[in-house]
Order: sequence, then C-alpha cells, then structure tokens
Amino acid sequence: MKKPIRLAIFASGNGSNAQQIAEYFAGTGEVLISAIYCNNAGAYVLERARLLGIPSVLFNREILYDSTAILQDLKSKKVDWIVLAGFLWLIPDYILEAYPRNIINIHPALLPAYGGKGMFGMKVHEAVIAAGEKESGITMHHVNGKYDDGDVLFQARCTVNNGDTPEMLAAKIHDLEYTFYPQIIEKTIRTKS
Ligand code: GAR
Repeated sequence: MKKPIRLAIFASGNGSNAQQIAEYFAGTGEVLISAIYCNNAGAYVLERARLLGIPSVLFNREILYDSTAILQDLKSKKVDWIVLAGFLWLIPDYILEAYPRNIINIHPALLPAYGGKGMFGMKVHEAVIAAGEKESGITMHHVNGKYDDGDVLFQARCTVNNGDTPEMLAAKIHDLEYTFYPQIIEKTIRTKS
C-alpha cells in the first residue's frame, strides 16, 4: 500500500476551515491529519480538534521563534505538508527551509489586493466593503517569509452586492473556502507526492 501523506494544520482561531479539511480527508487512509498546531489557548479550533480526535499542539511565540521544538514535533510525526487555515503568525525560516514549497495558505481576498500584515479575517471583508469593491474571493498560495506573498495556486471569486455587510461577505467567502480549499490541497499534494 502507498504510504499516506501526512498533513499538519496550523490555525489561530475558530478553525472552521481546519474542520472542513479534516472531514474531507477523514477515512481516506491516503491523507492523514497528524495534528492541529495552534498559537492561541482560547481558540475554538482546539475544541474542534478534540471533537475530531486529532491531536493538538499549543505553542507560544518563544516556542515558535526561539526554539526548533515545533519542527522537531512535525518531524517526529513525519508530517509532509503544512496547511495554514486562519493562522495569523509568520512561519519562521527554519520551518520554511524544512518544507520548501510544501506549506499552503488560504487568504480571504483576491491577492495581491487586501493582503499583508494586519489583513486577516473580518478586517479584510471590512476593507473590501469600505473600498466599494464589486467582487472579492479567495486565494490559495504557497507560503514564504512574508504575509500573503507566495505563488498563487488558485483563486475563486464572489460578488459583493450593494448593502452586503462584512458578515454577509464573510459567509460567502467561507462557502468558497469550504468548497475549494480541501480540493486544492488534495490536487497540490497529489501532484507533488
Ligand atoms: C478564513 O477566512 C481564512 O481565509 C482567514 O481566516 C479565516 C479563518 O476562519 N485567513 C486569513 O485571513 C489569513 N491572512 P476559520 O478559523 O473559521 O477557518
């Protein structure tokens, strides 16, 4: 039997994308979620991990940036790919170097617009609406050492209607993310593995 591909999910908050990804691959045996890594002790994604039966690893800034403990943990779990799902810190160089082009992020806008430091979650949708944009969307991209900056793998668009609130736009964007993120992860890892 072919060896399974092991994914780690990094998330900072609610974790609805993390759950979608985990459920998409559950039971396939071909793609395993090794753990959910989280930098926020109060994040609901930790509860989701518990309910899904996926191990979670909680860390702080010192552990991520001043030690190699997270990389050691990834290696001990034989993780092949890292998927960011609402993870709000930069990935440090030593992890980027250990996983060249094997780290994927999702951003809730059409990059390069509305990306960069401080642009995450609802802040993005508020900015899109404040600018009077007629469309927004999602971008999946390779991760490098800058915020929202790597090569684009995939984009999908949605309409921004007059009167849409940031919450209404967030719901449209989440629908796109749930539909496409697991599929594009699968396509990307199968192409390279
Ligand atoms: C998602 O919309 C994701 O695109 C965004 O955070 C949200 C997390 O939702 N990521 C960023 O803004 C990264 N710059 P979730 O925790 O429910 O999956």
